[in-house]
Amino acid sequence: MLRLSDLEVPIVQAPMAGGPSTPGLVAAVSTAGGLGSLGGGYQSPERMRADIEAVRALTDRPFGVNLFVPEHRPSDAGAVAAYAAALEPLATELGVEPPVPAPAGDDHYREKVADLIADPVPLVSFTFGLPSREEVRALQEAGSAVVLNATTPEEATACLALDPQAVVLQGPAAGGHRAQHDQFAESSDVPLAILLEAIAGRTTVPLIAAGGIGASADVRALLSAGASAVQVGTLFLTSAEAGTRPVHRKALLSGEFTETVVTRVFSGRPARALRNQFIDRMAESEVVGYPEVHYLTSPLRAAARDGHGINLWAGTGFVSCREAPAADILAQLAP
Ligand SMILES: Cc1cc2nc3c(=O)[nH]c(=O)nc-3n(C[C@H](O)[C@H](O)[C@H](O)COP(=O)(O)O)c2cc1C
Repeated sequence: MLRLSDLEVPIVQAPMAGGPSTPGLVAAVSTAGGLGSLGGGYQSPERMRADIEAVRALTDRPFGVNLFVPEHRPSDAGAVAAYAAALEPLATELGVEPPVPAPAGDDHYREKVADLIADPVPLVSFTFGLPSREEVRALQEAGSAVVLNATTPEEATACLALDPQAVVLQGPAAGGHRAQHDQFAESSDVPLAILLEAIAGRTTVPLIAAGGIGASADVRALLSAGASAVQVGTLFLTSAEAGTRPVHRKALLSGEFTETVVTRVFSGRPARALRNQFIDRMAESEVVGYPEVHYLTSPLRAAARDGHGINLWAGTGFVSCREAPAADILAQLAP
């Protein structure tokens, strides 16, 4: 079974569902000695399988696949309906149909888990909650390392109780969605270094520190504070191999956007993004509502004319983004 200590470079390229973590990016990072990760969230099971095959065709090195655990506390239908109504003026301006709430399903979670048990990959990670003990065992018996995400000491304890091969500790500076297990919870603002020290002192399970990495000095500091590896998302968004939308890539590099904020306006779950007009306009109406709000805003984001109309996920380290092959970005971050 894959061990983090076997990696030549103790850096994990974060899974980034929705397009950025292409098979080309994953294979480039794994080939260069780090660990690439596919984002299996939002994908159909067929697409997930095709991406796995594409990575296998590009590299013999280990890689990971990430899944979204379905919400154990579902959204409130009234809140989601109110948010749909609040989006109407924006939809009209963009010339799209007024958004209507619809049942959002479970992202084909069970089918994807079954696929990964039947045709195992070196590592499977989970975010937004915890898989069942049976799912963890079945994946491990199939030969996969299982990695779970935590944003607080309590979540880390719950992860460790499932005997995973590693736990990702995601700090508040991270780009994209917070991995918090309960969508209704306030997002923790405990700094990553403090979270890491608290957990490192009480487990021998390898810890992967994530959030806000901008330079190799950040990587070194987290490794010396007890992390076995560091997970980086935002800096790979502008790599040559990433599938990041051009408007998102441009926003990260242009200097036009200067600040990141945590917001629920795009998906109903807290996520860190470059602050733009969509966020400012909808902030007062935001509700807890994942995944329904994600699907409500999806046609509006698709119709957006520029970076002010979409979710520009970014961690606080985004100022270090540059356009380069993923292997160069990895080499520059290496401790
Ligand atoms: C565009 C984007 C998409 C993301 N998608 C996922 C995902 O699908 N699954 C997941 O576990 N984490 C996801 N994350 C969070 C990362 O795993 C990681 O915690 C974060 O990128 C680390 O912070 P950084 O972006 O500052 O490096 C995403 C992050 C970004 C920036």
